[in-house]
Amino acid sequence: VSSGKVQIGERTYEADEMTNVTPKILSHLGRNLHLQKYHPLNHISQRISKFMYSRYLSPRGNPLFSIHDRLQPVVTPHQNFDSLLIPKDHVSRKKSDNYYINKDFLLRAHTSAHQSELISMGFDNFLVMGDVYRRDEIDASHYPVFHQVEGVRLTTKSELFGSHQNMDDFQLFENTERSETQQGVHNLEAVKLLEADLKGCLEGLAMTLFGKDAEMRWVDAYFPFTHPSWELEVKLNDDWVELLGCGVIEQEILVNAGVIDKVGWAFGLGLERWAMKLYGIPDIRLFWSSDSGFLSQFKFEDSSKNIRYKNVSQYPQCVNDISFWLPGDGAYEPSDFYDLVRNIGGSTVEQVTLIDNFTHPKKKMTSHCYRIVYRHMERTLTQEEVNVIHKEIEKTAAESLNVVIR
Ligand code: PHE
Repeated sequence: VSSGKVQIGERTYEADEMTNVTPKILSHLGRNLHLQKYHPLNHISQRISKFMYSRYLSPRGNPLFSIHDRLQPVVTPHQNFDSLLIPKDHVSRKKSDNYYINKDFLLRAHTSAHQSELISMGFDNFLVMGDVYRRDEIDASHYPVFHQVEGVRLTTKSELFGSHQNMDDFQLFENTERSETQQGVHNLEAVKLLEADLKGCLEGLAMTLFGKDAEMRWVDAYFPFTHPSWELEVKLNDDWVELLGCGVIEQEILVNAGVIDKVGWAFGLGLERWAMKLYGIPDIRLFWSSDSGFLSQFKFEDSSKNIRYKNVSQYPQCVNDISFWLPGDGAYEPSDFYDLVRNIGGSTVEQVTLIDNFTHPKKKMTSHCYRIVYRHMERTLTQEEVNVIHKEIEKTAAESLNVVIR
């Protein structure tokens, strides 16, 4: 990102008013942790592929699902939003939540960005695996880059109902009213069969990873691209943990992709979340670690092996607060500050939390106080070293975010 240009691989993009990718974020492109042998994310993605391969076989016994795990994360707003029926004014498009290269390109915020193009290419049972990018808060379970697996399955009438003599008694489509249970274009029995296949598949997947006895529940959800939609939660150490989102694909998406005789379902899940729960990994930054204390624990051939991660190092934390007055123009977004902290602090920063948000009654000025917890995962940080970083954060915030340090 320099002099109005953004360079990604061979391609140069013109920066504009939407540009907010940083060199730090761009440095994650091509790391492909999900493809790295012995990486925990690779083990989990292999278990997921294996499960899907064995569950859906062609009549000849070949796996039906194809796997797309090397698609470039640079996508258009059309792919990431429009093709999924996400409204033009939807909050998820905001600059403060996404990494835009410019107004025409962004780093995908979910693997759903590839649904529509793969469907129009003719794929009807597929998995997409890859890195996704979201501007977010900083703590042990949030990192602006993580990995998702998307699953899509389309079926014809005879695949769904089986083929037999009275096929005319069964229909995929029916003109009705859109309601909580269906989109208004589907036959309710068809929707129920899809729901049963989808839920059976995902419960099976979750049980393969979290154990046959794992307690699970389905919660109604909303996504612009599926209806009805659900989330699957599992109970882990007494907490209900959301594992994935899924639903019946909006028929309009299929029609737009040129498919008129099939119905389908889709799901999306975050690999880090699954891996952290499965192996007991306490901090999401560990996935990016090149430390052998981390990676060596996953050096085994059999991806379905269950291990408990042992924390190698607990170096001490250094806590420093920073307070500033926000600029009066309302342009300030906390995610701008989080990016700035990441750019300067890198892997020395463990957490940033807004601990005080106060508006002066007379001056009508707002002040934010953030607590920054510094801790390196691979060594002890000295207070002097932290002070230098903290000062640099104060200085850069004042210069580039127009805040006034208190
Ligand atoms: N893309 C959604 C997300 O990232 C997950 C999802 C995928 C939901 C497919 C439904 C269907 O949150």
